[in-house]
Amino acid sequence: MKEFNVRSVLVTGSNRGIGLGLVKRFLELPNPPEWIFATTRELAGSQSKEVVELALKHPNLVVLQLDVTDPNSIKAAAQRVEEHVQGLGLNILINNAGIARVTTMENENVETMAIVYLTNTVGPLMVSQEFLPLLKKAAKQSTQTGLSCSKAAILNMSSMAASIEVVPQWELEKIPSYRCSKAALNMVSKCQSLEYKDYGILCTSIHPGWVKTRMGTEKAPQTVEQTTQAILKMLSTLSEKENGSFVGWDGKIYPCYSQREIELKEKKANGLPIDTLTHSTSKKGNSLYSTFLFAYTPEATILSSYISQTGNKM
Ligand SMILES: NC(=O)c1ccc[n+]([C@@H]2O[C@H](COP(=O)([O-])OP(=O)(O)OC[C@H]3O[C@@H](n4cnc5c(N)ncnc54)[C@H](OP(=O)(O)O)[C@@H]3O)[C@@H](O)[C@H]2O)c1
Repeated sequence: MKEFNVRSVLVTGSNRGIGLGLVKRFLELPNPPEWIFATTRELAGSQSKEVVELALKHPNLVVLQLDVTDPNSIKAAAQRVEEHVQGLGLNILINNAGIARVTTMENENVETMAIVYLTNTVGPLMVSQEFLPLLKKAAKQSTQTGLSCSKAAILNMSSMAASIEVVPQWELEKIPSYRCSKAALNMVSKCQSLEYKDYGILCTSIHPGWVKTRMGTEKAPQTVEQTTQAILKMLSTLSEKENGSFVGWDGKIYPCYSQREIELKEKKANGLPIDTLTHSTSKKGNSLYSTFLFAYTPEATILSSYISQTGNKM
């Protein structure tokens, strides 16, 4: 693994599933962070037993109460983090907490749309706002150049289910509220990346793959351990290039909107025929012209092209 020096990290929703896996992987690093903050909705509940017991064995692991839909609990958690890091700030915020409601296009309703959006989209936005001063502090004190997770980063756990073009596994489950909330979360990541890059904070969405958790179910092909190991490896490589993008557990950059770019790259790498369509516009006199170029070979030989006049007056 590339050099990866993280002094502090906070993972929301880390009493189980991918969140707990991430916490364990950070603890296992050869140079683990000085502070790892795991958060849970109910500190005393049986759901938190494993992470609370883990903290008894690891003095650098602190378990905090945090409900991403409750602004008071977010504020209180940020204060507790500040007390621990003592002016050094927070290097990584992982907005991992999320929910899914098994809904269809028929039974989706205001309640399910609202609670899923509040948890998966508004929650990460509010948590990031509250932790921003701590992330800024970490970035300011870092000696690292450029953007990286060793400096300061907001990582939003998204899903390929949010891809508008691919809409994976539609036949298996519709879950429109979940898909919409994660598509909106990708836009939150993009907005954060534009707003926070000048503070030295890297912001991306992550696709963790399909993972065996309560949400992912036993049918999923990947284990929490496999996915979280790969995610940590991928985090160590992130830089400006990935700022504002949608990065997979496997290190691939996924277009938020479509998978087409990836498919084309893969086809090209394997020497398979590709059907590329490029589009450009130009101005002639008072009219706008659209040019479409079609190429059907890996060498991108142009087999046909045409110019169409849109008729738009300038
Ligand atoms: N598993 C997959 O295949 C998969 C695929 C793509 C994306 N993801 C994303 O990865 C993330 C983790 O998923 P997972 O598979 O680990 O799911 P999971 O096993 O269901 O765990 C979800 C975690 O989020 C917490 N949580 C839910 N609502 C919360 C709230 N309001 N405030 C704070 N914490 C809350 C849960 O806490 P409680 O124990 O209190 O409920 C739990 O710790 C999610 O964002 C999910 O959308 C998962």
